[in-house]
Amino acid sequence: MRARGCGLSALLLLLLLPLAAGPLPGRAGPGALSELRVRVRLPDGQVTEESLQADSDADCISLELRKGDGTLVTLTADFRQEVKIFRALILGELERGQSQFQALCFVTRLHRNEIIPSESMAKLRQKNPKTVRQAEEVRGLEHLNMDVAVNFSKGAQLSPHIHNICSEAKEAIYTREEDVKFWLEKGVDGSMFEVLPQSADLPDLQRCKLCLDRWKPCICSYSLSIEWYPCMLKYCKSRDASGKVSSYKCGIRSCQKGYGFDYYVPQKQLCLWDEET
Ligand SMILES: *[C@@H]1O[C@H](CO)[C@@H](O)[C@H](O)[C@H]1NC(C)=O
Repeated sequence: MRARGCGLSALLLLLLLPLAAGPLPGRAGPGALSELRVRVRLPDGQVTEESLQADSDADCISLELRKGDGTLVTLTADFRQEVKIFRALILGELERGQSQFQALCFVTRLHRNEIIPSESMAKLRQKNPKTVRQAEEVRGLEHLNMDVAVNFSKGAQLSPHIHNICSEAKEAIYTREEDVKFWLEKGVDGSMFEVLPQSADLPDLQRCKLCLDRWKPCICSYSLSIEWYPCMLKYCKSRDASGKVSSYKCGIRSCQKGYGFDYYVPQKQLCLWDEET
């Protein structure tokens, strides 16, 4: 089981992106672990640093950024297993008696062309690391109904990265029935999945926001946004001496995308951020 690069635990030397891809001389060969740090502007105007790691051997990418409220958001794309994993480490409010942080993991299917391949990501670098970036394309908010829990100790069969990334969210790893169906067809072991109660089973089940009793089960909502990620490769054309035209990768298009997750919690007190909104 290899999950070397995409757990964001290793800090390696970084060579940064231009938005010009393509082989550069003096770069480590294929299979290299690379890290890129870019400055991005958050919707509230603050600037944060985002880390983008790629491991082309393990065929995975990991993006990490800290939101204005201190929440650490990580997205890991495991191309080999066609899995993407979102993790949020949410700081608790100590004065409200909350533990230091709460971790959530949302696991869903990775589609082709959602994000650039890991080998292209590993080649990205930037001319000016001080540039504050904003995505060229804003993709709409995607709502996901996370109706299935994933057993942490068996999750490695779905993606080896679950073990690293979700270790602080052992009791809070969620996915969707439609994604489970896809993975089962690929031969993934179904015993790691457990369908969670739905409104149809529990007529009283409310959104946590509307629920007044801290001890009652409810449907919690959590949203996050990946502020800047390379979503597509750009191609340029060149003409050789004989006039033959060929195209080559010459950069990336950047996107921003928001995700809203709904999931069952056995007690409203596990979903306190849903209160103030
Ligand atoms: C997860 O799987 C392990 C290993 O089979 C099992 O011992 C454990 O009880 C399961 N956890 C849950 C919450 O079902």
